[in-house]
Amino acid sequence: MIYNYEQLTAKSLPPDINMPLGLAADVKYVFSVTYTDPDAMELDGLAKVTSDVVLREGKNLAAYPPVQGDLGLREFIAQELENKRGAKVSVDNIFLSSGAGGACQVFVDAYIDDGDYVLMDQFCYHGSLNMFLKKGAQIIHSEMDDFGLIPEKVEENIQMLISQGTKPKMIYTISVFHNPTGITLSYERRKQLIEISKKYGVPILENESYADFRIDGPDLPQSMIGMDQDGGVMHISAFTKLMGCGLRLGFGVFPEQARPPLDVIKYGVSPSHLTSMVVHEYLKSHKTEYVSNVEKSLQAKRDAMLQSLGEYFPPSCTWSEPNGGMMIWVNLPEGTDTWNALDRAVERGVKYNPGPIFRSDREGRNQLRLTFSHNSPEEIKEGIAILADVFEKEGFFNE
Ligand SMILES: Cc1ncc(COP(=O)(O)O)c(C=O)c1O
Repeated sequence: MIYNYEQLTAKSLPPDINMPLGLAADVKYVFSVTYTDPDAMELDGLAKVTSDVVLREGKNLAAYPPVQGDLGLREFIAQELENKRGAKVSVDNIFLSSGAGGACQVFVDAYIDDGDYVLMDQFCYHGSLNMFLKKGAQIIHSEMDDFGLIPEKVEENIQMLISQGTKPKMIYTISVFHNPTGITLSYERRKQLIEISKKYGVPILENESYADFRIDGPDLPQSMIGMDQDGGVMHISAFTKLMGCGLRLGFGVFPEQARPPLDVIKYGVSPSHLTSMVVHEYLKSHKTEYVSNVEKSLQAKRDAMLQSLGEYFPPSCTWSEPNGGMMIWVNLPEGTDTWNALDRAVERGVKYNPGPIFRSDREGRNQLRLTFSHNSPEEIKEGIAILADVFEKEGFFNE
């Protein structure tokens, strides 16, 4: 052998994280990814603004974009955050990223060392969880209820670490239509969490990737970065779920005090400048109408999934009824194993997310996440009927 890549491999390679192989399978019923709703995409409008932008500003692409990303889009984000999320932030404190994931990676790279403790939701979107794990973080999952993270438990966990001579680096929470449970952190809880964050000097990293996806129910509470006065909250969001996961466009917002390490790592890998300009051009004139179409489409899909669960799953199972986002969290009877059953579902053309992928300790075997953004309402009904049959045959529905 001329080249020994095994020997050349970086010593600092992050740990490989064990995930169920079935998640990578190509199947018809994809209930395992929060893809952009393809039925709400508006391709003619997107094609038109892409052409307009290229003809008008195409020569800008000859140069590299600003390190924090396109100014026009950052101004649009600042305006949206003020109008929709109650947060007044400067364009200088916003950076564009490769999706919400890219922004999360920037904060992880800037702030997390091997062995650091991070406090996070009881269950946490596996993409973020895996980023923290790959950086060597030790995860403390903090208990949640129907209102989100329970502040008393968060404080207990911080005190427990302090009694061991350490402290968490940050509190990471998906605060709007939480992934995977669909819960939104209440306004009261937000206030309490900010108080705790201040008391112990542990900042909050809030992920609002689903803030544009309210279907019904109460208005969303203000974002924590808007409520905080002391530079204790960092914020993540994205345009991916709305406009196309393939566009890879998101953003991070940070308090000025948090800037130095972000400057050092240059805000991560910058997203495509063309995508930034096109998304800005499209959303500045179409966002309200587009979001309302997405909402209608997702409502039909969510309702089809809830109705099918009611029809095909027995009373021994329970599930969330989210007011927004793209997912339903399902509890099966104790003793069932959704990780092992995934292969059987995949053989029948259905994918879902087993509960343990949302926990660093791989607990939650009797739980699963179902996403409803990808398939049509009719396909959702077919897929849930098949999944129920798979679980029935696994003996999951035996009393
Ligand atoms: C809470 C959350 N954060 C981040 C991501 C990653 O999204 P993006 O494609 O914007 O990087 C997802 C995708 O499912 C998500 O649900």
